[in-house]
Amino acid sequence: MKKIKNKVALIFGVTGQDGSFLAELLLDKGYEVHGVIRRASTFNTSRINHIYEDPHTTDKRFFLHYGDLADANTIRKLLYMIMPDEIYNLGAQSHVRVSFDIPEYTANVTGVGALRVLEAAKDYEEHMKRKVKFYQASSSEMFGATPPPQNETSSFYPRSPYAAAKLFAYNMTRNYREAYGMFAVNGILFNHESERRGETFVTRKITRAVARIKVGKEKKLFLGNLDAKRDWGYAPEYMEAAWRMLQTDRPDDYVIGTGESHSVREFVAEAFRVAGLGNWKKYVGFDSRYLRPTEVESLIADTRKAKKKLGWKAKVTFPELVRIMVEADCREEGILNLE
Ligand code: NAP
Ligand code: GDD
Repeated sequence: MKKIKNKVALIFGVTGQDGSFLAELLLDKGYEVHGVIRRASTFNTSRINHIYEDPHTTDKRFFLHYGDLADANTIRKLLYMIMPDEIYNLGAQSHVRVSFDIPEYTANVTGVGALRVLEAAKDYEEHMKRKVKFYQASSSEMFGATPPPQNETSSFYPRSPYAAAKLFAYNMTRNYREAYGMFAVNGILFNHESERRGETFVTRKITRAVARIKVGKEKKLFLGNLDAKRDWGYAPEYMEAAWRMLQTDRPDDYVIGTGESHSVREFVAEAFRVAGLGNWKKYVGFDSRYLRPTEVESLIADTRKAKKKLGWKAKVTFPELVRIMVEADCREEGILNLE
């Protein structure tokens, strides 16, 4: 891979699934990478521990800083201190179901948080006479009730406080681009998963349960709506797309997905099949706690623009993704071979 020397990136949400893959990708490309972490009473760096270096080593290229999307002062201070070329805002209260329980907090962090970063970046550009590129982690969830396939020109119809907050951040990103000429882009990413996916999102909840059932630690998996359809891809590939968006000549917004969709039921069936557990119906129960007051029924990405302009296309298929995740969770439980 061609190394890009002297570029500095700042990642909000570096401890999350995507943040960890993006940090790896940028370090691989030769960037100096700065990540913002929240102070927590427990360790929250498990996804990035493997790339974190001893602070005492020389030629260190990965740095962590305390900060929070709710804290505009610190965001501003970090920008002036780090002087990034590229900012990736991946930070969010990212759980759709939870956003119905904590809507105000979600709006503050997931919505206004992006505005805080944009405002700090604008101020930084004006005062430092430097340009900085900004990536906003927008979401297919913003399409909500708009029928599939969805692309950059589809209308938005948010169905959750999370989606409404993301739509605010999306619009702010566009507005800063148009009003102030900033290089600000929205990556409208459809669901993407991995072995590092948070344990309460449905795919990981399923693959973890499958592994634990396989070793006899659990007997049953309780889920909500099995009919919802999602366009599920593999997270590392999606971070490559995010990076490519910031390497174009003109800032724009892009839909990223596989173009294929599967129901939660199909994911469950495939995961139990891969683990060799037989009929999934024996193990899966229904719990209304996991239903949402308003649901997004079907998401399928139309990614023609990303293919044409970014030369990006998803490679990992649905069965491959399920296998990657089931095998990783089985390894965690000590099962090294599923054949
Ligand atoms: P994730 O695993 O939930 O990671 C979210 C990150 O945001 C974590 O690093 C989290 O820190 C951080 N965060 C939460 N609240 C914060 C705050 N107040 N201040 C600063 N940071 C905060 O999410 P992900 O799956 O990696 O997704 C990355 C981004 O893409 C999110 O914005 C998400 O909404 C968006 N997105 C995701 C998908 C998807 O399918 N994965 C699709 C479309 C869009 P802690 O580790 O301390 O909690
Ligand atoms: N989490 C969860 N838990 N979801 C369940 C369950 C369950 O027990 N049972 C059924 N589901 C259904 C949900 O109702 C939803 O229709 C689907 O599974 C996917 O749910 P999640 O995995 O929680 O993801 P999401 O689609 O709501 O949101 C994710 O994707 C968005 C992009 O479209 C998140 O990563 C968001 O941050 C992201 O923006």
